Amino acid sequence: MENGEFKGKTVFITGGASGIGRASAFAFSSVGANVYIIDIDEHGGKTVTNEINASGGIAVFHVADVRNEHDIIHAVEACVRQFGAIDFAHNNAGIVISTTTLACTEEIWQKVIDTNLKGYWLCMKHELLQMQKQGFGNIVNTSSISGLIGRAGDMPYNVSKHGIIGLTKTAALENADKNIRINCVCPGAIQTPWVKRVTKGLNELHPMKRIGQPEEIANAVVWLCSEDSSFITGHSLVIDGGRIAGEW
Ligand code: NAI
Repeated sequence: MENGEFKGKTVFITGGASGIGRASAFAFSSVGANVYIIDIDEHGGKTVTNEINASGGIAVFHVADVRNEHDIIHAVEACVRQFGAIDFAHNNAGIVISTTTLACTEEIWQKVIDTNLKGYWLCMKHELLQMQKQGFGNIVNTSSISGLIGRAGDMPYNVSKHGIIGLTKTAALENADKNIRINCVCPGAIQTPWVKRVTKGLNELHPMKRIGQPEEIANAVVWLCSEDSSFITGHSLVIDGGRIAGEW
């Protein structure tokens, strides 16, 4: 990475109050970027931005729900008013409600798809409108290995994560000649509050015999936004300790 290439630039992060989004906020700040976080968790979001600001970085928190287009329009406008541009965006806010194809209700489908798929599309739409105006930009979406393989018992989540990869590829093609790159990361199990809540014994499912740390995703997101990955767009980067590399 070129020294100082992120200095004074701005990243817009969704779901930055916790887990992977939180780690992404710290990772971008550590390379000199201004950080603009949106989340529905006001306490968590403010805690992250307070920590970054206290350690000499520049971070702003904005309460917004990715399911609501007005919230997104307002947040993008406020970020541009504050920092002048959105150089990078990390779309990452997500939820999981585990249910099967038969047990899923319309209500669960709506909630998961609205957050994990419509929310990504809405954020990308308004980030891209701004990036096209600027003539540059770089977007990374958090999908999952669940976007690449099926997952029994997690139907709407699995569908949403497959959808994010489609969104990423299509938007990447639509913007490839506009100086805007769009990629996604596909994490395996990562040590976030969410995983702590959900499962034990996940380490053994990964050939490396451990789950990942949020920083291992955040570092890849920063790399995908850097000039070191300048010819990569429409890509889904698997970061899973070998979990879906094959049978083992
Ligand atoms: P987390 O629960 O720690 O963080 C998610 C954040 O999104 C929270 O701060 C939450 O308040 C926010 N959020 C939820 N709904 C929102 C909404 N409607 N509007 C705005 N913000 C909202 O979860 P974690 O683990 O950091 O997950 C982040 C992303 O990574 C998700 O998209 C998840 O699907 C993906 N992922 C996580 C994996 C893991 O093992 N932790 C594995 C693969 C993907």
